[in-house]
Amino acid sequence: MHIEKLPRFPLAQLPTPLESLPRLSRELGGPELFIKRDDQTGLALGGNKTRKLEFLVGQALEQGADTLVTAGAAQSNHCRQTAAAAAKAGLKCELILNGRKPELPNGNLLLNQLLGATEHWIERPQRAAKLSELPEQLRAQGRQTYVIPVGGSNGVGATGYVLAMMELAEQLRATQQRVDHIVFGSSSGGTQAGIVLGARVAGFAGQLHGLSIDKDDPEHEEYEIEVAQIANKCASYVGAEARFGRQDIKVAYGYMGEGYGVVGDLEREAIRLMARCEGIILDPVYAGRAFGALVDLIRKGAFKRGETVLFWHTGGTPALFAYAKELA
Ligand SMILES: Cc1ncc(COP(=O)(O)O)c(C=O)c1O
Repeated sequence: MHIEKLPRFPLAQLPTPLESLPRLSRELGGPELFIKRDDQTGLALGGNKTRKLEFLVGQALEQGADTLVTAGAAQSNHCRQTAAAAAKAGLKCELILNGRKPELPNGNLLLNQLLGATEHWIERPQRAAKLSELPEQLRAQGRQTYVIPVGGSNGVGATGYVLAMMELAEQLRATQQRVDHIVFGSSSGGTQAGIVLGARVAGFAGQLHGLSIDKDDPEHEEYEIEVAQIANKCASYVGAEARFGRQDIKVAYGYMGEGYGVVGDLEREAIRLMARCEGIILDPVYAGRAFGALVDLIRKGAFKRGETVLFWHTGGTPALFAYAKELA
């Protein structure tokens, strides 16, 4: 592996804390729970994209880019963190956002504006076309663009989670703590791809479970193949021998509720439970849904007594304020 030689722009406060959740473990009467606090990565209110952006921005700077272009949903954490990374690196940032532009910017949208990003609003079906047209238009104006895929999920971005998994393995080794299962939200796949490769590299013996945020069973095969492909591209990028197929990517489905970004009882209960037992805030779209799914799996007896489960908090907290009506 030549991971330490890859272009990297420092953005994150690392290592993020590894904490135990004793009150929550008691409350649920299930396995012993731990949390990895990637909501605390430090860049513009934190989250999992910070780790990916270190490598994406590193490559953008190496290629002489002056502008980052990316896309996401209106409350995209990825877009907010990209805007912050651009600001810190002295780059311009162009965001393609799908959905309806609200009258009053809230949550991540407010932060995008404070961070100086330019927004382009489109309907969801136009996203892929806009993501190829806009950089061309900017290049025609003399700008040097670097395009980051939705969620920062490609082989370069996933590199951040290879290192994250190695960081966690080192924390577990130093504290002599065994973890049997690692559980995290999975959506555009880069986090899971990096964790899967990092686990292989670090020799982690436990099980890895992605919890799908925005897909249901019919799409599962396609998604797992996509995650395996990102992991393979990442392995080539970092110079690791490992190769993956669909069978290496474990994802639990069935937690979509009323759809992506729609808060239901699952998320509401999960957010309150974590807040009231441990004083830790989850977001409504990703970590709240993923933790709600974990609570459901615990209640269904998916883990054995005496096992330890680590919930990877991937951030997203600013979106909470755009959901005040649904959560209050
Ligand atoms: C807070 C948060 N958690 C989890 C995820 C899922 O990560 P990935 O897209 O790498 O699967 C995202 C991605 O959008 C996110 O913003």
